[in-house]
Amino acid sequence: MSKLALIIGPIAIYLVSLAVRAAVGRRPTRHGFNVEIAVILSAYFLVTAGLGIFWVANQQLPPFDWHYLFGYATFGLVLAHLALNARIVVAYARKKKAASASSRPAQGLAGKVVAALVIACSAFYMGMRAGSPKLAALPEGAADAHASAVAHYHAVSMHTREGVLLRSPSVAWDLPVPRYIDRSGLPRVELPRPNIARGAERPVGEALSGIPVKPRGRFHRDDLSVLLWATAGITDRRGGYDLRASASSGALFPTEIYLLAFDIEGIEPGTYAYAPDAHALVNLGMPPRADPAFGLDPDDPPVLALVTTSVFRRTGQKYRDRAYRYVVADAGHAIGNAIVAAADLGLATRLAGRFDEALVARAIGVDNRKEGVLAVLAVAPGSRGAVAASDSLFEPMALVNPEELELGATAFAHTATSMTFINSSMPVANKIDMVATGETSARVLSLIQSRRSARNFRGEALALEHVSAVLALAAGPRPVVSHATRVYFVANRVAGLEPGAYRYEGGALSPARKGDIANEVGRAALDQDVIRNAPSVVVVTVDRRALAAEGARGYRHAFLEAGILGARLYLAVAARGLGGCSVGAFYDEEAARVLGINMEEQWPLHFFGFGEKADSN
Ligand SMILES: Cc1cc2nc3c(=O)[nH]c(=O)nc-3n(C[C@H](O)[C@H](O)[C@H](O)COP(=O)(O)O)c2cc1C
Repeated sequence: MSKLALIIGPIAIYLVSLAVRAAVGRRPTRHGFNVEIAVILSAYFLVTAGLGIFWVANQQLPPFDWHYLFGYATFGLVLAHLALNARIVVAYARKKKAASASSRPAQGLAGKVVAALVIACSAFYMGMRAGSPKLAALPEGAADAHASAVAHYHAVSMHTREGVLLRSPSVAWDLPVPRYIDRSGLPRVELPRPNIARGAERPVGEALSGIPVKPRGRFHRDDLSVLLWATAGITDRRGGYDLRASASSGALFPTEIYLLAFDIEGIEPGTYAYAPDAHALVNLGMPPRADPAFGLDPDDPPVLALVTTSVFRRTGQKYRDRAYRYVVADAGHAIGNAIVAAADLGLATRLAGRFDEALVARAIGVDNRKEGVLAVLAVAPGSRGAVAASDSLFEPMALVNPEELELGATAFAHTATSMTFINSSMPVANKIDMVATGETSARVLSLIQSRRSARNFRGEALALEHVSAVLALAAGPRPVVSHATRVYFVANRVAGLEPGAYRYEGGALSPARKGDIANEVGRAALDQDVIRNAPSVVVVTVDRRALAAEGARGYRHAFLEAGILGARLYLAVAARGLGGCSVGAFYDEEAARVLGINMEEQWPLHFFGFGEKADSN
């Protein structure tokens, strides 16, 4: 039975019974009607309260949040009310005179309150017990322990409908975590206000491919200000939230940006943290190192490198053991913006394919198991500044038992996709050819500034021309870091395109599943209307065979790539005057079924719904 039928069902049955009784001339009196409604209301209330208490316990939600405190008070008041009025109901049921029942004092009130408290405590206890917080042991003797480890993490972090009862989070996620890191004791370097109007209009396809414009001269502090702002700066403030240039799951913004400044006019070479709340740099007091262990070329250092980390707790407090998927995709969204903005400032970017997380973490002064180093982006003219991803320089980081890690499954997934530097011989520079696509022109920095997630769409079908342009702009550029990701497209309402799921490859769509699957795709995306009502949906998947060829590190790369694609999608839809929203919350197996793919071969990683924005966004 669908969720809706379960919820509406009892009320519908009652309405039918009323109609039948009215038809046979036994309509209840006003008093009787009142009592019956009170009984149904009480039943609904008790189920709601029970589920709330179960959920607080099961998902380790903060039990003393405003919402819950009011809930407990309401629960207590309703119990008192029920206890006082129970006699009326009993009297009505026994066909006694309601008035005489209500006039008698309530009896056994204490017993009823105790019984209700027992029910509440039982719901809490069951919530605590339901599901195991432990990650099952890794499969013994697996040929590739790291690949098995990421497959294991992926399975553990899947959304499934029955998962709520089978698993509870492996970590106490409810500790407070600040939105910004407090570095008030360290010297600060103010940045000028980013001059967003500086960029000229250019073909968006070229911009999203990361093809640099002709540089104006030496990279300057003003340019750096624009680059950092476009990567992780604050672009809007709404309802107590600082909204940022790049999207973030749940608006939790776990991504932190560090700067290794080698050759920037007006900025001392050094290692800095970017403070988005002040739009300033904080000098961490360490010299910058173009170290091969960081994926950088010491003989030809870049102008700068951006190190992306993630404060796992910020996202874990909401998304629990699924957090690692989100934080990497979030980092990808920030990097996607950085690539586009750097190109607009005249510089090319290279994402280091291999680097030693622990060494980079030490160089920027963070604890890699709590604030994980996710990516290093070299920014330089042409193809300089990053080394090729050579496996001979690195080996996978030793796996750690998740139970020994404070952040459980999240730190486990991070370790499983991390590398250790073992060799210092330099490989040849890695050149990536870029292909220009698309005709749409825009000021990309303005797109970054105005980009926002849109979740409501107009009802009409979307023009096919928009779909072709958005797909070409966002998915046309060559992959930045993972060759294992694949792009699917779900047409819910696209003029001239049969509804269904398609694989997007080489600029063309090939049907994967035919038929109107809007409801199905909406249900798969945790029933989110943003996907159900979007005229079109992009789904990024990862091919598991190709992933295996990239080793466990490929798992992280796949989410980064999905995030970068997400960032490009935001900018591409903005350039076309459309709206869209990234979505990371979905039932994995249902999402695979929607696309007509097999979980043994591909895993869905990321959704993006887009279309013409409704006025109500
Ligand atoms: C990886 C990722 C996953 C997201 N998942 C969802 C989602 O499941 N549902 C949703 O409504 N928004 C989702 N979002 C959008 C964020 O909620 C949004 O970016 C955030 O609220 C900030 O708002 P803005 O994008 O308008 O700046 C996701 C964003 C990212 C980057």
